[in-house]
Amino acid sequence: MPRRRRRRGDLAVAAVLAALVLAAVGVAGGDGGAEFDYRKLSGIIIPGFASTQLRAWSVLDCPYSPFDFNPLDSVWLDTAKLFSAVNCWLKCMLLEPYNQTDHPECKSRPDSGLSAITELDPGYITGPLSSVWKEWVKWLTFEIALKLRGGPSLVFAHSMGNNVFRYFLEWLKLEIAPKHYIQWLDEHIHAYFAVGAPLLGSTEAVRAVLSGTTFGLPVSEGTARLMFNAFGSSLWLMPFSKYCKADNIYWKHFFEGKGGCPHRQQCDEAEYISDYSGWPTDLVRIEVPSVRDMGAYPSIMDITENITSSMECGKPTLLSFSAREVSDGTLFKTIEDYDPQSKALVYQLEKYYQGDPVLNPLTPWERPPIKNVFCIYGIDSKTEVGYYFAPSGKPYPDNWIITDVIYEFEGALLSRSGNSVSGKPNNSSGDGTVSFNSLSWCKNWLGPKVNITRAPQAEHDGSDLQTTMNIDHHHGQDIVPNMTRAPHVKYITYYEDAESLPGWRTAVWELDKANHRNIVRMPVLMRELWLEMWHDMHPESKSKFVTKAFRGPLRNEDCRWDYSKARCGFPEHCEYRYIFGDVHLGMSCRLKKTSTNLLQQYL
Ligand SMILES: *[C@@H]1O[C@H](CO)[C@@H](O)[C@H](O)[C@H]1NC(C)=O
Ligand SMILES: *[C@@H]1O[C@H](CO)[C@@H](O)[C@H](O)[C@H]1NC(C)=O
Ligand SMILES: *[C@@H]1O[C@H](CO)[C@@H](O)[C@H](O)[C@H]1NC(C)=O
Ligand SMILES: *[C@@H]1O[C@H](CO)[C@@H](O)[C@H](O)[C@H]1NC(C)=O
Ligand SMILES: *[C@@H]1O[C@H](CO)[C@@H](O)[C@H](O)[C@H]1NC(C)=O
Ligand SMILES: *[C@@H]1O[C@H](CO)[C@@H](O)[C@H](O)[C@H]1NC(C)=O
Repeated sequence: MPRRRRRRGDLAVAAVLAALVLAAVGVAGGDGGAEFDYRKLSGIIIPGFASTQLRAWSVLDCPYSPFDFNPLDSVWLDTAKLFSAVNCWLKCMLLEPYNQTDHPECKSRPDSGLSAITELDPGYITGPLSSVWKEWVKWLTFEIALKLRGGPSLVFAHSMGNNVFRYFLEWLKLEIAPKHYIQWLDEHIHAYFAVGAPLLGSTEAVRAVLSGTTFGLPVSEGTARLMFNAFGSSLWLMPFSKYCKADNIYWKHFFEGKGGCPHRQQCDEAEYISDYSGWPTDLVRIEVPSVRDMGAYPSIMDITENITSSMECGKPTLLSFSAREVSDGTLFKTIEDYDPQSKALVYQLEKYYQGDPVLNPLTPWERPPIKNVFCIYGIDSKTEVGYYFAPSGKPYPDNWIITDVIYEFEGALLSRSGNSVSGKPNNSSGDGTVSFNSLSWCKNWLGPKVNITRAPQAEHDGSDLQTTMNIDHHHGQDIVPNMTRAPHVKYITYYEDAESLPGWRTAVWELDKANHRNIVRMPVLMRELWLEMWHDMHPESKSKFVTKAFRGPLRNEDCRWDYSKARCGFPEHCEYRYIFGDVHLGMSCRLKKTSTNLLQQYL
């Protein structure tokens, strides 16, 4: 494979074609006697934008290779590859902000179509409007998966990878005849697992655009800001209102003539009568000097000097912006005089998002027409939901400082400064990166009746299981289970609907304290995904979803030494079996050879 230096800066996301090794890992002899050939299934992983600290950045690196993804391994993307490539991608990251062209020294990019496949470094997905990745996802992943493995695919998307997948679905709808669209999806996609999807955007995107977020990279915030703003796809994470929908771009000419202002967003009345666009609080508050006395396009230094001087002399004004005003460009238009980047951001918003011929991605997403949809996210971490900015007096890109941060945390709003905060917190908080209202938007994909189960994340025997059946769910409202949490126990809460759409299933899993960036490496998530898939594929499964009543060891690694009892834990399933080379007691605890019906109980 030729090593290729390359980069489109907006390759913020990538599809990774990965063979999903479902052959019963470590459950040797314990597959319950099923004759099912799991190898027919294949999985497609669409990682997110900086989805795990450093990790997703590695899709931006120079060459890397496909890897096998084993659902019980804690492998998502390889961090080591990033470190070897930081310099390479730094050079290639910076795109010309208006026309999204490459750095002159870094032009190489994948061929589209089949010639790219043969020398595949996976993962060439660009932002909206780029044709490269559409071909890619379609041919490389779904078609090939169907041919090679003879079965439909499982799609796993993390974070912004979900936005990519949504865009792909919309594009496909325009690409194939309407009556074949659902059929294509049925044949090619068995299930879609949306992990940590920022369904209404993320406030962190605002921080990244105005002041820079390093995601743990060894660069300054200013450099991070330059890079982030250079990607056409960074605005894809802008927070927006759930009440505003886009008009179809093809209808746009009907609205023209209204004062020359293209009509691009239609908001429900709720947008104007409810506060904060349905978010917990205003997303951005900016302190600007009250006197604006500038030429048409003054230089950066002049502006900052004058902002600084009038800050000292005049009274600053505090401007507030809701999610709608962030995503419709109002925020950037307002600060145009103070921020040299704003004009380009407004331009990108209008051209690549509001004006995208396939989809304005800054609009709420209804349930995708896929048979099985699982929406999975962490809750109850402290998550940023709003910022106060003020001019710093330094030149771009360091011209804003964050003077205060608003967090949501377990049903309350807090501020970094300790000042009191007004707002409407949700009952839970987000996953540390994306706020709860955005993650939990997919609860709207559930039907009018929902079964709820709460179970501990750790291995358990079912004694702590809470279940309520057929709870009424009103579209647009959160479903708050009437269930308890014991202190210091982390739970998973499953919301399931196998009724409202005949033959289709929808589920939402909330994992207590699961972090946005690390959720994809959590053994608990891997276990649940694996069991759900195993259940779904098993010809003898009786329940609609995998049963929750018991979670025990599945692999030798799950058997541990129980020091208090001086024997292996889970004695029904694990036994002490020393094998030469074992260096501690736990290693010698292995699954019993006799436990052939280990997986039978999950059907
Ligand atoms: C993109 O913009 C740069 C800088 O403005 C310009 O030099 C270049 O010719 C443009 N490329 C295209 C394809 O328009
Ligand atoms: C979260 O709170 C907002 C603001 O009060 C509200 O509009 C929204 O419905 C809530 N979302 C959920 C999922 O509870
Ligand atoms: C900045 O302020 C000075 C006087 O304080 C003024 O002469 C100058 O024109 C201002 N610059 C701009 C760009 O407004
Ligand atoms: C959810 O929050 C609302 C308002 O903050 C409160 O009245 C209600 O009791 C909460 N529900 C639960 C289950 O915590
Ligand atoms: C919640 O459950 C408890 C006991 O399970 C019950 O007494 C109570 O009425 C329930 N509350 C609501 C609001 O349904
Ligand atoms: C809830 O569970 C019961 C029992 O498994 C099932 O009959 C019912 O269809 C489920 N309800 C929904 C909404 O899926």
